[in-house]
Amino acid sequence: MSTTSSSAPIACRFGELPAATVELLVLPWFEGETPAAFASLDEATGRELSRALGSGEFAARPFETFVTPLRGEGWSAQRVMLIGAGREAAFTVGLARRLATAAALVARNRRVRGLGFALRPGQAAPSGDVDVAGLAQAIAEGLTLAEFSSSAYQTSAPGTGDLPQLTIVIPDLRDSSPESPARVEGAVQRGRVLGESTNLARGLANEPGNTLTPREFAARASSIASQGDVSTEILDETQMAALNMGMLLGVARGSSEPPRLMVFRYAPADLKTGPVLALVGKGITFDSGGISIKPAEGMDKMKDDMSGGAAVACAMRAIGILRPRVRVIGVVPATENMPGGRALKPGDVLTSAEGKTVEVTNTDAEGRLVLGDALWYARQLGATHLVDVATLTGGITVALGRTTSGIFGTPDWWVDHVRRVGDRAGDRMWPMPVFDDYRDQLKSEIADMINSAGRPASSITAAMFLKEFTGSLPWAHIDIAGTAWADEARPFMPKGATGVAVRTLAELPFTTDAWK
Ligand code: BES
Ligand code: MN
Ligand code: ZN
Repeated sequence: MSTTSSSAPIACRFGELPAATVELLVLPWFEGETPAAFASLDEATGRELSRALGSGEFAARPFETFVTPLRGEGWSAQRVMLIGAGREAAFTVGLARRLATAAALVARNRRVRGLGFALRPGQAAPSGDVDVAGLAQAIAEGLTLAEFSSSAYQTSAPGTGDLPQLTIVIPDLRDSSPESPARVEGAVQRGRVLGESTNLARGLANEPGNTLTPREFAARASSIASQGDVSTEILDETQMAALNMGMLLGVARGSSEPPRLMVFRYAPADLKTGPVLALVGKGITFDSGGISIKPAEGMDKMKDDMSGGAAVACAMRAIGILRPRVRVIGVVPATENMPGGRALKPGDVLTSAEGKTVEVTNTDAEGRLVLGDALWYARQLGATHLVDVATLTGGITVALGRTTSGIFGTPDWWVDHVRRVGDRAGDRMWPMPVFDDYRDQLKSEIADMINSAGRPASSITAAMFLKEFTGSLPWAHIDIAGTAWADEARPFMPKGATGVAVRTLAELPFTTDAWK
């Protein structure tokens, strides 16, 4: 599969909707709106709009669509698609992002060649404080997310060669917003980069374990990150041994594929001081469980156990293109977790690079082992603020389901900040506790700690384990085991890898004003 993205820019068209010369004009429509507000559009549809709204064929519930031809009469588009936007009072930037994806997916299915998405700010507009640039960015992200395709291995699947040309149509909002067209255009191109980076991470996570080995993961991640101003260093097992990374090497022992540790660096040339943000991602290219082997049912899905690592690599790409004024490093430990003849055994004791010893009570709790050494290494490289992302525990899906990631860490202001950035980026998270009391569950008879404390609060004890390797730096841990993969298709998200956390990680370095 290709790791480069050659997507065409999204065009911005400023001006009133009737003048938009696109094949399909997509218009978000709020519940209860009457055609009177768009009388000339209704006219151009031969009053199909009135009819569909009157009959209830189209009720504007979120993601409902209605397509009808336009017959000139002042309107330049060939057809219009109304997409339900729900109640105007409940409209959010997050919904706009999803509507854009849903509309573009419908357009793709209909083989539309050119799509224009109308930016409608909703109720916020009259108050004059609507962030048109933020809305335009989210729409650009959403449109781009619809370009993702997971059919790379289907020999008869249609290619992505004929993706629709994308335009965002921005009506004159001068009364309601002070945004300059240049700022809005910049936001759209920013959204394009963030959407592409999300899609690249989805491509990596969808990739099967036999092709995406740790070495191949490192090679592709490096080529993706280098699309931005990012340097990549790939450490092999000899270098890991020199760093005493006993936990990472311990997990890798059961596999005949050698492990790799990716280090990405972004640093504005003139910036030698200030914070260093470290993004750390779990990169298990296949998790069989090791000797504590998983049941056969659903094990195929464990190819996505590198989703956190993919999120870090692809966020680094976005960061390298968008160029924030802060240094950022990415660290991704990559290995398989396999039950080979030399594999880690339950009861084995490992020594981490930090020096702490760990009794391995369950070889399937491998993520925290590789991340422990990676977090330590991020600190050695000068990190001042830590964020890790991992498909770490099945327990987080029990707690929060498949729509919301768990966020853990300390201090609270840092965790809250990461959560708020994630909210805006469309990655919903909810805070989980890391009370000291939970640390007792990790007590070992013979080592400093055990790696697995069983089912009670399993997501929290996993986080407590990671905490041992964070020094006293601000640290947030995002457990994406429930959100990295969509089992069910939704209007705005096909089945498969979701690309969760990419945009959150990429936006974080632009928020340093709020850091302590
Ligand atoms: N990669 C899994 C977590 C996971 C499970 C992700 C299901 C997605 C879906 C992780 O390495 C793991 O096996 N965790 C164990 C830990 C346990 C042994 C303490 C778990 O959560 O069951
Ligand atoms: Mn596991
Ligand atoms: Zn795992």
